[in-house]
Amino acid sequence: MNEFQNFKQKASEILNLDLDGYKEKRIERRTKSLMKRYDINNFKECANRLKKDISFREAYLNHFTINTSEFFRNPKNYDYLRKEIIPKLLEKSRKINIWSAPCSNGSEPYTIAIILEEMGINYRNYNILGSDLDPEILSTAKKGIYSESSIKNVPKDIFNKYFEEINGQFKRYKLSSKIKSKVKFEKKDLINGKFEKNDWDLIISRNFFIYLTKEYKRLMVKKFTDVLKNERYFFIGSTEFIFGSEEFNLKKENLSFYKKTTS
Ligand SMILES: C[S@@+](CC[C@H](N)C(=O)[O-])C[C@H]1O[C@@H](n2cnc3c(N)ncnc32)[C@H](O)[C@@H]1O
Repeated sequence: MNEFQNFKQKASEILNLDLDGYKEKRIERRTKSLMKRYDINNFKECANRLKKDISFREAYLNHFTINTSEFFRNPKNYDYLRKEIIPKLLEKSRKINIWSAPCSNGSEPYTIAIILEEMGINYRNYNILGSDLDPEILSTAKKGIYSESSIKNVPKDIFNKYFEEINGQFKRYKLSSKIKSKVKFEKKDLINGKFEKNDWDLIISRNFFIYLTKEYKRLMVKKFTDVLKNERYFFIGSTEFIFGSEEFNLKKENLSFYKKTTS
């Protein structure tokens, strides 16, 4: 085992996180850049710091998890969701369960809530849950306050209805409490955690698989599709693709949407 692998094993134990699931080169790069920032000379010193210093532990997790997310990210997919997927799901179930995993700063599940609100769908008829590993990003999600970069794709009429500019040195935008109240959040390690619910109508897992090894990506696709209802949808990132999707009873429908069909 080389010095970095030794560090990775120790860090996994300290952080209670299965680092084997993530692409190794990426973790090494991210670790080294944080070490530089904190003036840490080697992996041994870094592991010791992780063990002893809670704030460094938080900084490490924060640096390691890339939280980039934005409202209406890849808008074509959201158009398809609104026109094709949501109406089909509502035909099949009186109440649809939607899971954004991982949800990062909440832009993704809130975008869904805005779309459903605009479609005039009553809150009685859906549930939206956002899950993420990173407690800091979840607290941002719950606050619902965003920078310019998160809202750049929001259409003007939607922006006027659901966002309010906050005065201050930097431009910040507050999401309306009506939309905020439609989404619940939970802290969850998707790799190690157990999936309690097994009746999801729509699972959105975008820009997460890109960080995982091939093996863990397949494990995660299986874990997600096992809890997805039959004839329902799995929505992934626009640069992602599921090779051998038939193995998971998934068939690509259009753009970034796969449909689960078991015979
Ligand atoms: C790039 S963001 C994707 C956010 C959103 N789905 C999107 O596409 O805009 C990746 C998120 O994965 C989360 N993450 C990484 N590993 C995780 C794990 N094991 N369990 C849960 N969330 C994880 C990070 O905290 C980060 O918020």
